[in-house]
Amino acid sequence: MASSSTLHLLLALLTLSILSSNRLVKCDSEEDNLLQGINGYRTSLNLTALTKNDKAECLAEEIADQFKNQPCTNTTGADTVPGTEPQFSNYPTLLANCHLNVSITRDGAIMPACVPNLVPTLVLSNFTQSQYSGNLNDSKYTGIGISSEKDWMVVILTTNTPEGSYSAVQSASLILKSSFIYQLLFLLVGLVLLL
Ligand SMILES: *[C@@H]1O[C@H](CO)[C@@H](O)[C@H](O)[C@H]1NC(C)=O
Ligand SMILES: *[C@@H]1O[C@H](CO)[C@@H](O)[C@H](O)[C@H]1NC(C)=O
Ligand SMILES: *[C@@H]1O[C@H](CO)[C@@H](O)[C@H](O)[C@H]1NC(C)=O
Ligand SMILES: *[C@@H]1O[C@H](CO)[C@@H](O)[C@H](O)[C@H]1NC(C)=O
Ligand SMILES: *[C@@H]1O[C@H](CO)[C@@H](O)[C@H](O)[C@H]1NC(C)=O
Repeated sequence: MASSSTLHLLLALLTLSILSSNRLVKCDSEEDNLLQGINGYRTSLNLTALTKNDKAECLAEEIADQFKNQPCTNTTGADTVPGTEPQFSNYPTLLANCHLNVSITRDGAIMPACVPNLVPTLVLSNFTQSQYSGNLNDSKYTGIGISSEKDWMVVILTTNTPEGSYSAVQSASLILKSSFIYQLLFLLVGLVLLL
């Protein structure tokens, strides 16, 4: 009897660990490294750390996908001459893919960088020691989304204002909702196992 309830407890714990590890499966070490570096840079300037914004990350993924087959040159990425940034004709589609629109992304900053093999130190300096540093040292930015494809790293900064929030409020409630469903699911699985 005692051992069978122990077994049930173990099964419930196993289920929980499988469910929770599911959310950590995606390995984003390059992005996480860069985020740490950027936030270290912010801290050194006495600015608040940037917090992850899921929708900005989604858009960064879409944009990295557009860039990925372009080679690095001395006029791409962080070396782009301001005003000559590539415009994607399908930008509205990219936004829509992430449930975004222009009115809530206008004040954000989209910063693509191209670094062969994404060498971490070069990636970081391509953001902190280029024209992009003027964005990274700006206190108006509070959120960040990062994604990479091949040699391209795309960083998107978001603001606290409605025009640059990437509807962070909405995504926060989505996270709440999904973590609620997830807890409910765990409770149910636990109940079934214990009965
Ligand atoms: C950050 O704050 C500390 C303590 O308030 C101050 O000594 C330092 O000069 C500040 N650094 C910058 C870059 O503002
Ligand atoms: C970029 O590279 C081209 C050819 O490789 C060179 O002519 C040009 O001067 C370079 N521009 C800069 C800004 O380094
Ligand atoms: C953009 O999205 C926000 C939030 O989803 C919505 O409130 C707003 O009406 C949308 N604006 C346009 C122009 O579609
Ligand atoms: C950015 O990365 C390129 C490699 O693509 C490198 O040559 C360049 O020095 C880097 N720029 C900065 C400012 O770190
Ligand atoms: C922020 O970066 C810009 C551009 O690099 C620079 O002109 C400005 O002095 C920087 N401000 C701070 C507080 O570091």
